[in-house]
Amino acid sequence: MNEAVLENIRTRRVLREMTEEPVAREQIETILEAARWAPSGGNLRPNRYIVIQDPETRRLIRLVSPGMFQKAPALILICTNGDVLIEHSLPPTDRALLIDIGTAAQTMMLAAHALGLGSGPVTSFSREAIKVILNLPASYSPEMFICIGHKAPTARPGMKPWKKITWRDLTHWERFPEG
Ligand SMILES: Cc1cc2nc3c(=O)[nH]c(=O)nc-3n(C[C@H](O)[C@H](O)[C@H](O)COP(=O)(O)O)c2cc1C
Repeated sequence: MNEAVLENIRTRRVLREMTEEPVAREQIETILEAARWAPSGGNLRPNRYIVIQDPETRRLIRLVSPGMFQKAPALILICTNGDVLIEHSLPPTDRALLIDIGTAAQTMMLAAHALGLGSGPVTSFSREAIKVILNLPASYSPEMFICIGHKAPTARPGMKPWKKITWRDLTHWERFPEG
């Protein structure tokens, strides 16, 4: 049993208050390398990642991202590359595309946590504005930011669940009706 992996999964929380201390290039590369091993539907690997550290670009991104509460020193934007969809005759509505974003996102956040960094996903942003700010190729669809940085001393715990949830509350066994 690898208790360290389980502990890493259990203790990761979204971090929304970060310092301006830069994230080392080597650490960002480790996070990207981890995401490369995330499962991908049909192993098609439609995700593309854009790393943003430039202060002015980050400022512009925050202006069009109401759900980005962090002033993160590093952002990784997960995009879907539409060229891969065309190549494999997949519609843009294929559910595997969203799942691929999720597997990459969680893998990145766990990798960041393992490195002692904090992270947070953000999907609340203007896609059209992000395309312009980053001059994205037409085939790239921006889907989720992963904000990465160091925990601010003032950081509070993340959003509280409405009620305490255990895995039992979320799980059914076998078939309905349960015995
Ligand atoms: C699909 C998705 C979209 C999310 N979008 C945002 C967002 O725009 N802004 C934000 O602060 N957190 C966002 N979150 C983070 C959730 O609010 C967070 O995971 C949840 O409150 C549980 O907190 P925890 O991950 O620390 O346990 C998102 C999470 C997911 C899975």
